[in-house]
Amino acid sequence: MNRRKFLKVMGGAGIAMPGLLGASSCSPQIFNPDPSTGLSLGYISGDVGSDSALVWLKAQAGSRVALQYGRAPGLAQFQATPLRGVDPGADHSTIISLDGLEPATRYYYRGMVEGQAAGPVASFVTAPRPDENAPVTFCFSGDTRQSYKPFTVMNAVRAQRPDFFLHLGDTIYADRNGTAQTLPEFWDKYRINRDDAASQSCFAETSVYVVWDDHEVADDYLPGHPLASIGRKAFLDYWPIRRPASEPEQIYRAVRWGRAVDLIVLDPRQYRAADRSTMLGQRQKEWFFDRLANSGATFKFVATTVPIAGGGSDRWDGYPKERDEILRYIREKKISGVVFMSADLHYAAVTKIPNGNGLLDITAGPLAAPLNRVTNSANRRYEFFLAENFNFAKITVDPKVKGNEALLEFIDQDNRVFYTRKIRA
Ligand SMILES: [Fe+2]
Repeated sequence: MNRRKFLKVMGGAGIAMPGLLGASSCSPQIFNPDPSTGLSLGYISGDVGSDSALVWLKAQAGSRVALQYGRAPGLAQFQATPLRGVDPGADHSTIISLDGLEPATRYYYRGMVEGQAAGPVASFVTAPRPDENAPVTFCFSGDTRQSYKPFTVMNAVRAQRPDFFLHLGDTIYADRNGTAQTLPEFWDKYRINRDDAASQSCFAETSVYVVWDDHEVADDYLPGHPLASIGRKAFLDYWPIRRPASEPEQIYRAVRWGRAVDLIVLDPRQYRAADRSTMLGQRQKEWFFDRLANSGATFKFVATTVPIAGGGSDRWDGYPKERDEILRYIREKKISGVVFMSADLHYAAVTKIPNGNGLLDITAGPLAAPLNRVTNSANRRYEFFLAENFNFAKITVDPKVKGNEALLEFIDQDNRVFYTRKIRA
């Protein structure tokens, strides 16, 4: 749709720009949009690739919505997506795909509700092409519990200006501070957590990749739990996750960020076997092995949510056979540059994976949840351990400077770096 036609459809409302937000660090914070926009929450961009991105947004019941997007800050020129209705079956939200984008480029966008004032301008950056020697910076962590709002640590994430943020699960605590049992009660949990100034300011400038853990359903739940499918639906209703049309509930996925980075996001939850023979399930495991073997990226950053070592039977410690199989595969195929990333245990740690041939698991978090002070931090597997702050990990890879080296930094809610380490591929 061209601009003139779009403005006509929108009743000319596209001229007003309340809460205009650029991407500079001095931008005003946005959280709940002005009621005159008809939007109900801030939007979120996610699952960005080198030529596409998803944008989640939510508006008043019955709304028709579109996105304006383009490369000009402030959207002096833009393209627009066709109008579409928000989905009452997804709590009046919708997820719009932006396609045909340029790689390694910052895009600006805003939501438009038909007949209402334009939403604030937000932005994200697209991934570099797989053959591009581009620097990549990203942050990851997990665990956001509503009673720990405001999530001020997200201000520190935003200040780091990462290319993307990876939320490694426990995005809500469905079973804490009131137990969600119905779909609207699950939606409420997401709405409450999303309605947070620091989170929304961060998401206005940074795209996300999100995976779930147990508390999106219930503590340490297993497949077959009566709330598993409701919890999964609410999770997928509230986060922009690109899923195959043939497998609409598939959460595991991978994305390349230039020559240096392959981001492999595993789903450690919905394919677990009752006999603990597998956490990933056969199909996901074959996909994972295939991706590792054929990646070609210098680093394969693998998000597992639950740590590879430690934490008891709900984590990989409870699935030793499959863990051995993964570690053996990496060793025998001589796959270099594999780094595991986890959250869930509510401390920051670098773990030398036992029998892992030098492989590391980087555990970050919590973003906002109780600290874990019961783990024995003196265990020999820990190269580093700290359970004293809300935190996230930041990874920087710059192939132009050091082709096979990544920098790990742990950063706390006051934006202080409290641990640094180089990782060789
Ligand atoms: Fe957690």
